[in-house]
Amino acid sequence: MEIKKICVLGAGAMGHGIVQVCAQAGYNVKIQDIEDKFVQGGLGRIRKFLEGSVERKKMTKEEAEATLSRIKGTTELKEAAQDADLVIEAIIENIEIKKDTYRKLDAICPAYTIFASNTSYQSITEMAAVTKRPDKFLGMHWFNPPQIMRGIEVIKGEKTSQETVNIIVDLCRKVGKEPGVCKDSPGFIANRLLQPWRNESYKLYDEGVASFEDIDKALKTAYNFRMGPFELGDLVGLEVAIVGNETMYRELRRDVFKPAWCHIIKVRAGDYGRKTGRGFYEYK
Ligand SMILES: NC(=O)c1ccc[n+]([C@@H]2O[C@H](COP(=O)([O-])OP(=O)(O)OC[C@H]3O[C@@H](n4cnc5c(N)ncnc54)[C@H](O)[C@@H]3O)[C@@H](O)[C@H]2O)c1
Repeated sequence: MEIKKICVLGAGAMGHGIVQVCAQAGYNVKIQDIEDKFVQGGLGRIRKFLEGSVERKKMTKEEAEATLSRIKGTTELKEAAQDADLVIEAIIENIEIKKDTYRKLDAICPAYTIFASNTSYQSITEMAAVTKRPDKFLGMHWFNPPQIMRGIEVIKGEKTSQETVNIIVDLCRKVGKEPGVCKDSPGFIANRLLQPWRNESYKLYDEGVASFEDIDKALKTAYNFRMGPFELGDLVGLEVAIVGNETMYRELRRDVFKPAWCHIIKVRAGDYGRKTGRGFYEYK
């Protein structure tokens, strides 16, 4: 089966970037969110990114316009998904809301439609189990920002068919990304390894060993990391990141994943990072 039409659910930090990458690669993409202001917000961010690329001479004006012409936004799930070959779900990281969405999608989409979740931490197998197509269900875990980061983790649920994995691996390459395949397991590969590193950094800050700026600087200057753990948390969204800590801690029962206090209190205060203008750092 060849993927031609793609539907992306969620126009947030990840969804809008995924839409842009797919549209730039020539796919027709529909983007859906629960309110029009979120759809327009996502489309606006794509437009701004493309304008910047034209200014920096990374693409022509015609290429940017052609990319935009392949994208359609809507708040209607049925309109977005009913003729899609592939639905990439990038909505809020809440397993019950995701499962509810997959039940609806299963009734809307043709039997051939593949469902791919961009979840960072939730079980692919558990979400697939609410549909009648667990063989056509898998994880497609992009990294932030999708327009820039090269890798995509392709996650095989307990019942995902090899054919489905092959189709999505092929698609990743067609949109210019490097796929890596793994089994369904908490945090998959990259987040399983990222969590202890980030969490221990936050605990260093809690203990008053160093300022968060100096912890970020230490990793960037000592190991050439492009971002420190606090900058990364602010970019990802601290409220998204903490769901990861809680899920990994619950599933793997290891203290190394237990959320740090400075992380908990930032989330309680609503300071999620770049998206709210303040996380550990302040953003204009
Ligand atoms: N932020 C990251 O760095 C990152 C990286 C990889 C994967 N992810 C995963 O991607 C997903 C989205 O994360 P994000 O950072 O883009 O979040 P976000 O909060 O920026 O965007 C989520 C969007 O989903 C929308 N939404 C909520 N419920 C919906 C529904 N029922 N139907 C359609 N849209 C709905 C929200 O209105 C919002 O616009 C999550 O599963 C997250 O774990 C995030």
